[in-house]
Amino acid sequence: MVRVRVPASTANFGPGFDSLGLALSLYATLCFWEDEDGLKIEGCDDAYKTDDNLAVVAYKKVLARLGVPFRGLGVRIESDIPVSRGLGSSAAMIVAGLLAGNAAHGAKLSKSTLFALATEIEGHPDNVAAALFGGFTASMVQNGFPNMARYEIDPSLRFLALIPDFEVSTHDARAALPAVVPLRDAVFNVTRIGVLLKALEYGDDPLISAALDDRLHQPYRARLIHDYEKVRALALDAGCTAFYISGSGSACMCVYRGESFPARMEKLIAALPHNWRPLPLTIDYEGAALLETQVCKAGF
Ligand code: HSE
Repeated sequence: MVRVRVPASTANFGPGFDSLGLALSLYATLCFWEDEDGLKIEGCDDAYKTDDNLAVVAYKKVLARLGVPFRGLGVRIESDIPVSRGLGSSAAMIVAGLLAGNAAHGAKLSKSTLFALATEIEGHPDNVAAALFGGFTASMVQNGFPNMARYEIDPSLRFLALIPDFEVSTHDARAALPAVVPLRDAVFNVTRIGVLLKALEYGDDPLISAALDDRLHQPYRARLIHDYEKVRALALDAGCTAFYISGSGSACMCVYRGESFPARMEKLIAALPHNWRPLPLTIDYEGAALLETQVCKAGF
């Protein structure tokens, strides 16, 4: 039996589309046990109690890599990460399955191999990097393999996730993007990333406000998020340092300081439809963690 804990993550982070990711203080804890009775999944909607469950897909992927036959699996999920809201719930499931499968069979795969397997399943590295390694990560894929670098981020920065009651599927949100973007928009993002990384390291609020912007995905995805413009205007009026779509949405993220911002925001968004819920979060520096392991017996 293996128990793992994986943090939520916020990806894209303004100009860092498909690259920047930050692990957050919101967690999924999953328990895995190998069970000859087949597949048993507890703690999620029935729609996810299938072979397609990402934690199962990931667990099986590790077994296949290790050449261990799959004979059945039990998974119990306890997750505070809302599903399909842009807070890395899929990445958390993938990373949990990989870490658990590896731990159950002698921990033979390195963390960078798990990162590569996770990126293969998820299709992009930003959420899985943050979920696996913790902290603030920049990642890229070269010749099919992901690389990542960890960046410093001012630990006193706070994050307020604004989470509506509707989902946005990453598949739909990626389909909303154009195949080609104007050079000026690519330049807009590229020029901001370097500045943003330094500004986040030093906690330079005016520079964070200026650099945390995007033209590669937000303009195309804003229409998938009801009241996006209203929520953005309320957050900026209420004094947040910066505002962006978390991952592919539907949650939006406010970077802020000071104790009073979440309460102010809660009052302001209460008047909107779709039950927007403010959730204050801090940075998770640990990443995915094994809480308990009993190595499986030979052959099972
Ligand atoms: N970078 C990804 C995207 C994150 O924006 O599509 C969502 O999983």
